[in-house]
Amino acid sequence: MAKFTLPGLSAEQGAEVAAVLQERLSAYNDLHLTLKHIHWNVVGPNFIGVHEMIDPQVELVRGFADSVAERIAALGGSPKGTPGAIISDRTWDDYSVGRDSAQAHLAALDLVYIGVITDGRKAIAKVGDVDPITEDMLIGQTGDLEQFQWFVRAHLENSGGSLIHENGHTEKEAASQAR
Ligand SMILES: [Fe+2]
Repeated sequence: MAKFTLPGLSAEQGAEVAAVLQERLSAYNDLHLTLKHIHWNVVGPNFIGVHEMIDPQVELVRGFADSVAERIAALGGSPKGTPGAIISDRTWDDYSVGRDSAQAHLAALDLVYIGVITDGRKAIAKVGDVDPITEDMLIGQTGDLEQFQWFVRAHLENSGGSLIHENGHTEKEAASQAR
């Protein structure tokens, strides 16, 4: 940490918020890379719809990573944006689906979003009392991710309101149920 942090926060509070944001930075860096992997590996019917749906999500999530990293620096921290930082920060496995159908990737991506959004809500709860400005930033980003997840789920929902991969507890299981 630097010898300063944001006005109104103690050094300890600044470090605490920066640590929460570092986890979000690695989550967003992992997510925008994973989204590109899907953009490149999706095949079959609905290829173009899914291929083109993914890129605006990549752009927005890259923007989230940039905002979070710059706030870590403003708090007096040093944002870690390397591939090694993603691997050391993450609590999840690498995305596990290669060349596959649109439905298979979307089912696996739904599980990815469940993880990122659930962790986002935990981060919001952690920073809420200490730094409402960081909380506000994370609330906006998580809301956008929830909208993306709805785009994904809308492809996987049947007329009865069930998700076709609802019994898949891993990406591979969800993909195979949706295929
Ligand atoms: Fe592309």
